[in-house]
Amino acid sequence: MTASSASEPFHAVAPYYDRLMSGIPYIWWFHYIEALLMHVMGHLEGEPLGEPKHPKLEGEPPGEPKTTAEISPPQKPSRERSEGGISEPLGGNSWPRTVLDLCCGTGNLTELFYINGYQVVGVDISAPMIEQARRKAHADGYAIPYYVQDAADLELPHTFDLVVSVFDSLNNLIEPDRFAQCLQRVYRHLNMPGAFVFDLNTEYAFVHKMFDQSERRRYAPVRYRWRSEYDPTTRLCTIRMEFWVNEAGKERYFVEVHRQRAYSDAEVRSMLQAAGFRKVHAFDAYTLNPLHRRSDRVFYVALR
Ligand SMILES: C[S@@+](CC[C@H](N)C(=O)[O-])C[C@H]1O[C@@H](n2cnc3c(N)ncnc32)[C@H](O)[C@@H]1O
Repeated sequence: MTASSASEPFHAVAPYYDRLMSGIPYIWWFHYIEALLMHVMGHLEGEPLGEPKHPKLEGEPPGEPKTTAEISPPQKPSRERSEGGISEPLGGNSWPRTVLDLCCGTGNLTELFYINGYQVVGVDISAPMIEQARRKAHADGYAIPYYVQDAADLELPHTFDLVVSVFDSLNNLIEPDRFAQCLQRVYRHLNMPGAFVFDLNTEYAFVHKMFDQSERRRYAPVRYRWRSEYDPTTRLCTIRMEFWVNEAGKERYFVEVHRQRAYSDAEVRSMLQAAGFRKVHAFDAYTLNPLHRRSDRVFYVALR
């Protein structure tokens, strides 16, 4: 198979995506998002941004979200809030309550919001990814509405206290106009107060080839080889992703070619401000520290 016969991004891989992500600590991302919000809101209430105001997080912080077999996936909890986990929605029982998981994929983070008591909706452009998300929600008895939509054309009958988008999903919006339009659409879908939390790969990640990864061990849940090329002129990174999966004793091979754009911090801030966001905070991923020149992933918290 050649790149020209590659599947559309996040189509062929959809049925295997959760196997591929089996080492990804979504629960940590969930805790981190809550910590970011508490940190930023604490700051708004007059506390210095340098003083983290968040529950003590137990265990190791998440590393770069590569497939690491060492970390076990979270246990499937019940919808009851677990002891020692996230205890209450932020701000007592009032805010945020309603959440949109934008570019939700197969719904792994979406479900964590749901089982922790938030009202959550998921949106993704890939019908096969949403099919997986719906299948899981149905099997688990979770009432999560899922929509197939392009994030740049977001149009839902609800507004939300919080919109999240994780795992560099928005780097996939490679046209700056569409990226800016997505931020505008998100703004329109936020309540007041409302927050948009999202992460992006930085140019540093592309230049340093952080997408170049392989998992070729025979018994790996999904074997893969990813190779990337970054063009600093266009700021586009093209990633050729080869996959091998075992299905009923047979090996299936397929290719997806993904493209991501590197958005500079200045670009993102100016687009967020143009969309109407009144405050923008950027963090070196998985910390409460500011961005630095070696940050390979950035988390933004934009407030409406
Ligand atoms: C790396 S996956 C992350 C999925 C999920 N957020 C997670 O953490 O598992 C990126 C997701 O972004 C979605 N995506 C890419 N471009 C999109 C767009 N323009 N609108 C909506 N979803 C998009 C893909 O279909 C894919 O499900």
